[in-house]
Amino acid sequence: MNHAIDRRSWLKQTGLALAGVGLSSFNSPYRLKNPADAILLSSNENAYGPSPAARKAILDNYLGSNRYPDDAIVLLQKAVAVHCKVAKENILLGAGSSEIIGLACLHAAKKGGHVICADPSYREWNGQAAAFGLSFRRNHLPKSETTAGQLYGPVIADTRMIYICNPNNPTGTVMDVKAIEQFAINASKKAIVFIDEAYTEYAPVPSLAPLAITNRNIIVARTFSKIYGLAGARIGYAISHPETIITVSKYQPWPAANLSAASTAAAIASLGDHDFVTDCLEKNRQAKEMCYACFREINLEYIPSSANFILFNIDMIAGRFAEVMTQKNIQVKYRDAYGGKWCRVSMGTIEEMQAFTTACKQV
Ligand SMILES: Cc1ncc(COP(=O)(O)O)c(C=O)c1O
Repeated sequence: MNHAIDRRSWLKQTGLALAGVGLSSFNSPYRLKNPADAILLSSNENAYGPSPAARKAILDNYLGSNRYPDDAIVLLQKAVAVHCKVAKENILLGAGSSEIIGLACLHAAKKGGHVICADPSYREWNGQAAAFGLSFRRNHLPKSETTAGQLYGPVIADTRMIYICNPNNPTGTVMDVKAIEQFAINASKKAIVFIDEAYTEYAPVPSLAPLAITNRNIIVARTFSKIYGLAGARIGYAISHPETIITVSKYQPWPAANLSAASTAAAIASLGDHDFVTDCLEKNRQAKEMCYACFREINLEYIPSSANFILFNIDMIAGRFAEVMTQKNIQVKYRDAYGGKWCRVSMGTIEEMQAFTTACKQV
């Protein structure tokens, strides 16, 4: 990959380029949340993104922000369809896959009822789903392999949606796709099966998109926030049956113009930047190996991950660990799971992971 434009110099460039319209780069008031030197390993972003092609597309297109992005959105819809080997009518774009999850919950919530999900699993959307009137049935997800039928079933009268995150956040584990497929075919006769593939590009498992395009009750969600390094651009999409896409799109205020022009251009460019993806996957693999070696050395239990983060147990060191990470300005995510205390660390750059493993060893 051409890393000639590194993150800092790109930000400097864009900061200069945008200075005239009152915007600037990471050290601006728009980024108060994170100190300038923070090592951000808490949100499973891609530290190397956006890709060089996406950076160029953002710079080339932000000046067109005075126009509505209808045309560009159709182009992205087509590009995503080609990428996923489905028809344009199978794709619904959203501001991140979060919007897609929200739309599915809204659709599922018409008659109240509950969502079945694994525990631990991704929960950010739970507040919105609850506001729509849905409750939750959380089924314990073992650390070792399990089948979808064991985990999510049975689907009962009040079940409106089954949320399946594969690979799962925060464990990084993957479930056998054939087992999910079998489960989804049966469960979708009674409820919506929502398959969150936010980390699918990192995992050695096929997408369930082919199943979703022929089944009105199966929705697959994917995102540009992870491997494509565009978390701040907010682009995600649903893959489903064309009728479901139309139904769900009606909950959006303006589906034909719901993404920013610059973000849309960045996403289209990202799909063509294969070198960036290959390079990021390799760096992610190396970063995970570094962490595994560190955890083994200091005897911390961890769950081998098929994504860009690792969950490891900190019961032995809980108090001081958080303190050391805070002192070093390293942001990670703490989580109660499996009756103990765990920490989820996202894979940053190799240098950032060196800082993280050094900090771990100091505890
Ligand atoms: C499993 C999972 N799904 C969805 C999302 C939301 O991502 P976005 O809205 O940026 O596409 C995340 C973000 O971390 C996630 O981990």
